Amino acid sequence: MKSITLDINSALSTVSRADIAALEPKATEALDKVISATGAGNDFLGWVNLPTETTEALLDDIIACADHLRATCDTVVAIGIGGSYLGAKAVIEALSDSFAPYRPAIQGEPKVIFAGQNIGEDYLYELQDYLKDKRFGIIVISKSGTTTEPAIAFRLLKEQLERQLGVDEARSRIVAITDEKRGALRTLATSEGYKTFVIADNVGGRFSVLTPVGLLPIAVAGFDIRALIDGAAEMEKATAEPSESNLAYLYACTRNALYRAGKKIEILVNYNPKLHYFAEWWKQLYGESEGKDHKGIFPAAVDFSTDLHSMGQWIQDGERTIFETVITVLEQQHEKLIPSDEANLDGLNYIAGKHVDEVNKMAELGTRIAHVDGGVPNLLISLPALREKYLGQLIYFFEKACGISGYMLDVNPFNQPGVEDYKRNMFALLAKPGYEEATAAIRARLD
Ligand code: PA5
Repeated sequence: MKSITLDINSALSTVSRADIAALEPKATEALDKVISATGAGNDFLGWVNLPTETTEALLDDIIACADHLRATCDTVVAIGIGGSYLGAKAVIEALSDSFAPYRPAIQGEPKVIFAGQNIGEDYLYELQDYLKDKRFGIIVISKSGTTTEPAIAFRLLKEQLERQLGVDEARSRIVAITDEKRGALRTLATSEGYKTFVIADNVGGRFSVLTPVGLLPIAVAGFDIRALIDGAAEMEKATAEPSESNLAYLYACTRNALYRAGKKIEILVNYNPKLHYFAEWWKQLYGESEGKDHKGIFPAAVDFSTDLHSMGQWIQDGERTIFETVITVLEQQHEKLIPSDEANLDGLNYIAGKHVDEVNKMAELGTRIAHVDGGVPNLLISLPALREKYLGQLIYFFEKACGISGYMLDVNPFNQPGVEDYKRNMFALLAKPGYEEATAAIRARLD
């Protein structure tokens, strides 16, 4: 059975195997808290057994809904922010043709585009302009059902869809994914009679990609959600026990040993542009889970070799507080050989006949060696290929490691109290009803 792997050898110049082993008791305790739901935030552990407990009936329902949207729409707008969009975006980008956005929209193979992840007036204007001659549908996703960014986007697009298609046809092309009972979106979906899916109470946004939140947009984009769940289920089983062969446990131990050795920043590195959004998903997962109580490894990300020409200098030679986790993709989907050229003015004939990926892999190896030599320890995750099954494994691996690692840091990995602060100020500044005192207080500060 092919699977993702983790190699920590290039971190051992900074932390020894003994340093890592010294954290095993803490990691074992942390894994136990995740499995037996005995730690802080234990009411948000619904994601732990999600892959093996996902029913065929749910997958059938999601696929049927996706088929309906695929048959009726040339474009589907997934509206959501944070954990309600990053997972789907990450998987769709990883599996899609890089130039899909520039190809014409066709019914049967709809484009999935995203909104509600910002409050950009130009973005929303241009989105609505793009959609004015499209047969579009909407998947609106909000666990709380009250988040401002997706609510604004949904209000605009719902009105546009009703105007373009009529209220009844619009209703048949809107799907809401939200809490079973609470929130404004649930109330609206019930009163309009939209097709809905539930986000379980015990699954937090950033751990929700393997629920309908991620699965529906991924299925609409035409990808195999059963294989994604199967891969995650394999990883769920492989990460249940505390041992070095449990990759999530090993990763959590190693990154915490590096953190204790002064490596405060982890850079997730890819050598495949299709993984750019996977890193965005990972940043949210780790940033929101671990950055608490003035603790936590700062999650950063780069796309190489692109960013070797921008961030490469800092990584090679800047402050030595970083380590890298590289995701390498072993097998490519397509073949492209470098052609020979008689004039050879660019001097590239020495690599003529080679696969482009061979050059990429040498850039990767050369960079890893240079960075380790420069004092940047390196963890290496190998993905057999960019396919649903391995992405499912990778997603679950990072989720499980995140739960373990958060508990090792003695924080509650499943809340996000810090995210509320900006919202309070924004509502006060916008004079939202109920915020009168906060409005007066913040205005007084600005006078
Ligand atoms: O991880 C989280 O919980 C957050 O990032 C949420 O996903 C994000 O704030 C969106 O929230 P909601 O789905 O309630 O609109």
